[in-house]
Amino acid sequence: MTRVTLAAACLAILLAAPAQPARAQDGDPAPIVEIMRAFAGPGTHRPSGAKGACYAGRFEPAATAPGLSKAVIFTRPSDAVIRFSVGGGNPAVADGARGVNRGLSFRIDPDGAGQTEFVMVNAPINFAATPAQMLGFLQARRPAANGQPDTERVRAFSEANPETLLQGRYLASQPIPGSWVGVSYWGVHAYTLTNAAGARQVIKFRMEPLDGPVNLTDDEARARPRDFLAADIAARLASGRPAGLRMVAILGRAGDPTDNPTRMWEGEEARPTVELGRLMVRSVADAKVCDEVIFAPTLLADGIDGPENDPMFAIRTPAYAISISKRMQ
Ligand code: HEM
Repeated sequence: MTRVTLAAACLAILLAAPAQPARAQDGDPAPIVEIMRAFAGPGTHRPSGAKGACYAGRFEPAATAPGLSKAVIFTRPSDAVIRFSVGGGNPAVADGARGVNRGLSFRIDPDGAGQTEFVMVNAPINFAATPAQMLGFLQARRPAANGQPDTERVRAFSEANPETLLQGRYLASQPIPGSWVGVSYWGVHAYTLTNAAGARQVIKFRMEPLDGPVNLTDDEARARPRDFLAADIAARLASGRPAGLRMVAILGRAGDPTDNPTRMWEGEEARPTVELGRLMVRSVADAKVCDEVIFAPTLLADGIDGPENDPMFAIRTPAYAISISKRMQ
């Protein structure tokens, strides 16, 4: 499929919906998007991952991928659209900022059916397990009359919802990424891959830097120009240094939870992985290519299924659809 227009993206969402329905009890994404937009302030474009850059790329499957999944994206190389971002709703945030994640959204676009989209972050977990918890997390941080969050309200919410602190703690424990392709990203949800023989395997997706990690100390990050991440990709493309990420499947075991993206599996970091392919950045794309569509995490090729029991997964595509409709107004 060629680049999807906004209308086609909305159609794709509708087509994807029956496979991963957002159930009523899972929560309504609208109030979450509304509060995210309120936090980002007037003129909000994306209320999350507001700063970013769009690239054309290629996904090259690994020879080991079809053993796990029959998805067409794992059988032949495909074009890709890639958006890297810096978290939060501030499009002018410094690339060296602490306290916000780095994001990776990409669409793998084989000829014909099988378009597949991912929206990942540089942490193995999300900060909320359910839509209600995400809404509560954001509501607790609403500015009080003095314009600042009410620290007592945040403390009480955190005490009652300790898992909401785990992603922030993880990010705080890590060096600042010195390159968008120098850090790992996780799909955070548990997916199921099915191969041509019908064998099913629960996995989590991780993207790993092909050219090794690029880490900055806080002082080094402060000394960098505000927009060094796009400049780093440009320099790599100009010099022929690899600008890409390896996709691996972290193998699940019987009994691993699949319903809660705030939880890593037991011993997850040391689990065996299977290489699925390489996502290569090839050239800078017009921002419109990424801005006029959403990346829909429920749009997956046959042979890849999202978790049916993870309420966060279910509301992501509807949330992104609401967000794009607001920002295109
Ligand atoms: C659970 C794991 C999640 C991860 C890893 C994640 C990650 C991201 C990333 C990387 C972006 C930037 C997208 C881009 O480059 O275009 C983004 C955007 C956004 N996220 Fe999420 N997100 C998650 C869940 C959610 C949920 C549950 C909601 C709301 C219910 C939400 C609301 C948004 C919104 C409103 C945007 C802006 C979308 C747009 O305007 O295109 N996210 N998210």
